[in-house]
Amino acid sequence: MTAARTRLRQHLERARARTRSLTDLPDSELTAQHSPLMSPLVWDLVHIANQEEQWLVRKVGGRPPLRSGIDDLYDAFLHPRATRPELPLLGPDEARRYVDEVRAASWDALNQGSFDSELTRDGFVFAMVAQHEQQHGETMLATHQLREGPPLLDAPEAPRRGTPPEQSRVLVPAGEVEIGTSSDPWALDNEQPAQRVHVPAFSIDTVPVSNRRYLEFVEDGGYRRPEFWSEPGWRHRCDAELEAPRFWTHDPAGRRARRSFGRIVELHPDEPVVHVCFYEAEAFGRWAGGRLPTEFEWEKAARWDPATGRSRAYPWGDEEPGPQHANLGQCHLGPAVVGAYPAGASPLGVHQLIGDVWEWTSSPFEPYPGFRAFPYREYSEVFFGNDYRVLRGGSFGTDSVACRGTFRNWDLPVRRQIFAGFRLAYDPAGAGEPDV
Ligand code: AVJ
Ligand code: FE
Repeated sequence: MTAARTRLRQHLERARARTRSLTDLPDSELTAQHSPLMSPLVWDLVHIANQEEQWLVRKVGGRPPLRSGIDDLYDAFLHPRATRPELPLLGPDEARRYVDEVRAASWDALNQGSFDSELTRDGFVFAMVAQHEQQHGETMLATHQLREGPPLLDAPEAPRRGTPPEQSRVLVPAGEVEIGTSSDPWALDNEQPAQRVHVPAFSIDTVPVSNRRYLEFVEDGGYRRPEFWSEPGWRHRCDAELEAPRFWTHDPAGRRARRSFGRIVELHPDEPVVHVCFYEAEAFGRWAGGRLPTEFEWEKAARWDPATGRSRAYPWGDEEPGPQHANLGQCHLGPAVVGAYPAGASPLGVHQLIGDVWEWTSSPFEPYPGFRAFPYREYSEVFFGNDYRVLRGGSFGTDSVACRGTFRNWDLPVRRQIFAGFRLAYDPAGAGEPDV
């Protein structure tokens, strides 16, 4: 077996170990709908395997369907999440059998197939399937966070000690930068092709907005003062009766706390705020005298190396993420305090761009110039437009295979069950001067 195949097998095995950690539960936990925002976990489980079967077993392996007539049940576009519990879904035992059968057949495809088609070049479709399973791992983790009841998951605490950078923000000078990629073989369609973009000068926070800063906004009446909110944001704030980030609560002693995977935990002042929607992030920005970065600003802060002018894969360089760089991969069940990952900082001194919390940007999810849907329109293309906002950088629940400087996530501006926070950007003093 070639090194490339071994590496792909390891990614698929890691994804499966995580899927098991999220679905090795009593049947009633698997079939329950823990929130109308989410599918029953048993739907995600079979959807993961069904996608794997369609791409690896049928397309690459050339095999006929393992179960007839189930594809439609697990097609995310045919059935909105809220309606999935009513479907004649496979039961937990049958689901697990199917998952194992698919995986056995995928190993045949991985071991025997040649990597000489557009779909398999550099192992792309295997990496795509691993990324897909990990993305659903994060979705299932959000289901666990929404679930009521005693804790089911466990993990060591995220780092509690950090040395926040001295500067609270840094200036990113005006100039061209490469955005996106034409060379990363495992990049998904929406990250391609690479383009050169002139980004005017801006400043950006060196760390994500913390609970401490966010609490100041809350206590200053941020949720009661429409002047900080966009018009649709204020309408949503009123309709949904938003008053604080989702899952904020009080402990029995009356102190501020948050609910985290079935436990009431301290609202740590130095942790990045999490479970805020785009509109809340935008309102905080106006209150604080800043704004959300565009996704190009975010990517320049994350990838641009001032010494060479090159864009790197990650803030720290081209080396794959390790535990010293970022809080990724569900190693912890929450974000780490700000300043906990100095080894993951960018050359300009911006910390924790990768991992901890997804970061809202101001950008709608649009195709890059020269975009081509590949290998299916339903991954990205059907979502393009002004309805969605781009998030960057990944969270503690994102696996490293689905996280890099070019990776683009997106969601509706009202969504808060995702592991999202933000950092602010600022127009430099004297903005409006001509820049060359
Ligand atoms: C890229 C996270 C928005 O979960 O809706 C999973 C990923 N696409 N199955 C999503 C995805 C198809 C997608 N996001
Ligand atoms: Fe999916």
